[in-house]
Formats: sequence, structure tokens, C-alpha cells
Amino acid sequence: MKRTKIMIKKGNFFKFIPAKQLFSFFSNDMAIDLGTANTVVYVKNKGIILDEPSVVAVKANTNQVLAAGKAAKEMLGKTPESIVACRPLRDGVIANFELAESMLRYFIRAANNNRKTLVSPRMIIGVPSGITQVERRAVEDSARQAGASEVYTIIEPLAAAIGAGLPVQDPCGNMIVDIGGGTTEVAVITLKDVVFCKSVRVAGDEMDRAIVQYVKRKYNLLIGERTAELVKINIGTVMLDSKMETMEVKGRDLVTGIPKTVTLTSAEVNEALLETISTILEVIRVALENTPPELSSDLVDKGIVTAGGGSLLRGLDKLISKETGLPVRIAKDPLLCVVKGAGKVLEELDFFKEVLMR
Ligand SMILES: Nc1ncnc2c1ncn2[C@@H]1O[C@H](COP(=O)(O)OP(=O)(O)OP(=O)(O)O)[C@@H](O)[C@H]1O
Ligand SMILES: [Mg+2]
Repeated sequence: MKRTKIMIKKGNFFKFIPAKQLFSFFSNDMAIDLGTANTVVYVKNKGIILDEPSVVAVKANTNQVLAAGKAAKEMLGKTPESIVACRPLRDGVIANFELAESMLRYFIRAANNNRKTLVSPRMIIGVPSGITQVERRAVEDSARQAGASEVYTIIEPLAAAIGAGLPVQDPCGNMIVDIGGGTTEVAVITLKDVVFCKSVRVAGDEMDRAIVQYVKRKYNLLIGERTAELVKINIGTVMLDSKMETMEVKGRDLVTGIPKTVTLTSAEVNEALLETISTILEVIRVALENTPPELSSDLVDKGIVTAGGGSLLRGLDKLISKETGLPVRIAKDPLLCVVKGAGKVLEELDFFKEVLMR
């Protein structure tokens, strides 16, 4: 096959380079973690340049985007009828295709400083391991609609393991537990491939919903999911022996209909989260039971690495360690592991090409 070469000026010299190389020079190839809670964008040769909540606000009648990211998250649950502010992803996958595409397009533009690139970028997008064919196609289509020339996907736990700096290329067992907003994924990885992977659609969002339900049952008080998330982050704990704190929450009294304030304690949040946490622990247990013995034995020394925002819940690492008897370490920058991993694949495409799905 004939390869086109193009002449470019480099310093005082002219040099011929293959057209394909020039293509990648002008296009801002990207790795994207399109998460249920947060979208993070990595641009080749530049690094992470956008990290925003996966929320978009549009005009109700025209679908014109008014805001996306942090500004749109502030609007959640507070919009008039003329504005729709919503999270287009649910449980790790696209729930509203049109809004997901609008949001992605907005973020991609913002990542390029609202400049149009000469060539459409190639994209690597993280997807949950339990994604169906139809759901995966929806992600690929919305990325293409948002301007991608080629779309590749990588399963999130594999990207998270690479991003957490685990030696995924070695013949040894690596276990990663990624607790995001919509999904918890547990994977055992060796030789750049997943040996066992289990995913449940229970993670940070489910914790927030559990807190809403708990407050409703115990205090007849209706609070929003944003408030519940703040409660979880500020005073949530899964180990009763860790620091006990309190927090005032405001909501609507379901009996009188009047706004009311109650003070929640860490112990109450702990009680509210019991069921969600036990589901997460169960997934880890199933993954350990299904790990081949040679890889299992590696885990005794190397332990488990946790990633995703949910891994920051106070005491969760200690609880997992207590339940499994294995050492547990929270990855550095747990919310960025997936995008860092996908970014590394983008930078070292030849070395990592087999981890991509097309
Ligand atoms: N300090 C914290 N303690 C507990 N939970 C936290 C903390 N910080 C963030 N979270 C939770 O982490 C979740 C977001 O994590 P992350 O960004 O990894 O999810 P995501 O990648 O968007 O979701 P998914 O991978 O499921 O699609 C949210 O539910 C958020 O409330
Ligand atoms: Mg994630």
C-alpha cells in the first residue's frame, strides 16, 4: 500500500513525515472517563484538562445547552419547568442519549478551549465491564456524534488498574476494586488481560439513595440526593470505631409539609449504608472465590487496590481488609484512575493496543 508523505519544516530543515503521523499531530486524540458521576478528559501529550460532574442543563423546548458540569450540578433539583438539569448517565451507562451527546460535545469543545480542531480526534472511552452490546454502541455513537473520528473502548477496571500503576503486564495477579457513582467493578488482571471481572450497579449513588430513604423512614423528612451525598462525604463511615461526627440536614417534613432540620450522626449514616456496603463486599468475595489459585496467592502479598470516588468512604479500605484478610490500599487520586489509565493507553498505543475494544 502506498503511504502518503508530507513535507514539514522542522527548525531550519525540511522533513518528510507520513501523513498518518501528521494526522495525529493536528488532532487532539482523547481518553475520556464518561462516568455516571464525573466526566474526565485527557488529551494526548497534554494530560488531564477537564474534570467535571456528568450533569447537563438544557432549555426544555429546544434542548439548547445552558450549562454542563459544576454549574449544571448546582441546578439539580432547583430548575423551573423551562430548564431541564439532569444526569444523562445512570448505573455507568447512558440513560438519555440526546443529553449525553450534548454534554459530551460541550466538554470536548471546552477541552479544546472552544477551538475547532483541524482533524476530528480519536477517542478512547472507558465503559463498565458489565456493559451490553447495545449500551456500548450507544456510547460509541454519542462520541461519534460529538465529533470523534474513531472510537475505541476500554473496560473501566482495566483502565483503573493501569491508572493506579499496577503492573498489569506482568504474569501476576492484580486485583482492582473500582467503586464509582453508578457501578462497582472488581477485576483480577494479569498479562494485560482480565481473568475475572464482576460488576454490580451499586455504588456511590446507591449510598446516597440509601441515606435519603433512611432519613425519610426515621425522621419523616425528605432530603435531596445532593444533600445525601454531602452527608456521605462529610460524616459517612463504615467502621463504627472511626471518628464520630454530626451534621445538620434540611429537608421537607413529610407530615407537616414545612421545611425542617435534623442532626444526623455518623452512626446513623453507617446504619443507612449497611446494605449497600454488604453488596460491595459480596462482589469482592465472589471475585476472590473465582480467582485461579496461582493468582490468588499473589494477592496475599500484593493485596487489593481500590479506586473510584466511593473508595474514599471513611473506613471502607479497613473494612474490606478485615473481611478478606488481605492488605488493601487506596490508589493515588482514586477518582482519576480510569482516565489516567486510558490516557496511558493512548500515549503507549503500541504496547497497550490489545486492551482496547473496537
Ligand atoms: N470522600 C468521599 N467519600 C465518599 N464518597 C465519595 C467521596 N468523594 C466522592 N465520592 C463519591 O464517589 C462517586 C463518584 O466517583 P467516580 O467519579 O469515581 O464515579 P464515576 O466514575 O463517575 O461513576 P461510574 O464509574 O460508576 O460510572 C460519587 O458517588 C461521590 O459521591
Ligand atoms: Mg468510574
